[in-house]
Amino acid sequence: MTSAMAPPSSVTVRVPAKINLELVVGAPRPDGYHPLSTVFHAVSLHDEVTVWPADEWGLTVTGPQSLGVPEDGTNLAARAALLLAESAGITEPVHIAIRKDIPVAGGMAGGSADAAAALVACDQLWGLGTPRVELEHVAAEVGSDVPFLLTGGTAMASGRGEVLAPVLARGTYHWVLAVSEGGLSTPAVYAECDRLRGDRPVPDPAPTPEMMTALRSGDPRALGAALANDLQAAAISLMPALADVIDAGLEFGAIGGIVSGSGPTVAFLAEDNESALDLAVSLTASGTVQDVRRATGPAHGAHVVSGVRAR
Ligand code: C5P
Repeated sequence: MTSAMAPPSSVTVRVPAKINLELVVGAPRPDGYHPLSTVFHAVSLHDEVTVWPADEWGLTVTGPQSLGVPEDGTNLAARAALLLAESAGITEPVHIAIRKDIPVAGGMAGGSADAAAALVACDQLWGLGTPRVELEHVAAEVGSDVPFLLTGGTAMASGRGEVLAPVLARGTYHWVLAVSEGGLSTPAVYAECDRLRGDRPVPDPAPTPEMMTALRSGDPRALGAALANDLQAAAISLMPALADVIDAGLEFGAIGGIVSGSGPTVAFLAEDNESALDLAVSLTASGTVQDVRRATGPAHGAHVVSGVRAR
């Protein structure tokens, strides 16, 4: 018989992808990062991360989007688990198994999502009960998007993306995600943004009243009109075909369309579930993109789905 306090033999955590409803980018800081004002929105495309005690550290990646994902210490999930172990004085290795359904290098924070999931999973496996603010601190060390993937929902962020604040956001939104062939490197897209701006002065990033009003209203049309991304021009400059993808989606009835984060995934907003289905069918038939996915938002942040420690 298992004792009531027996530690779980493995823990599985589900974690969503994100899109940026608004991404306002400032001039680069001395450390190379760009100050941001952004609205993160978690959507229902998920990865699953399972961890269990092992003789040595290991990591494997499976699932529909596993191609090209590193299975070594450079994987953000491994870095996150090691950092948490280090900060908590844990010396027992774990194996990390990632099941990927979030497109890789697509601007949807798939790698950051796996890191957030690994933190929650290891925290549970090791029975640490790390306070949320400490977990967010470790998350921010791993990457700018990782703290948001712990939280999920819809949230404002500043700093380099790691400083989160709540935002009043109503409604459920129906998204169609157009995934292009080949990824874009986030640093390359930021560098291209700087290059395109040249010597022009760049104001300090701030949220726009249009986005705040749209989120409060819960009206998809208002949100569609308010979507904005300062990295979009840079992503299109590096991958010109993205302009055609955006045009195609809008022509097929999307009420808004935007490059997600640093791209190249394009997120289209549909009026409702039925319109999202129609849009997904038209985009698929158009042959302009490699893959078309539907998702709703907001979605919950990283959460344990099995291996809950008995109390
Ligand atoms: O924080 P993270 O490791 O995810 O960032 C990846 C890269 O994206 C950084 O090395 C940097 O080149 C760029 N970046 C940036 N400004 C941000 C976030 C990311 O320039 N606010």
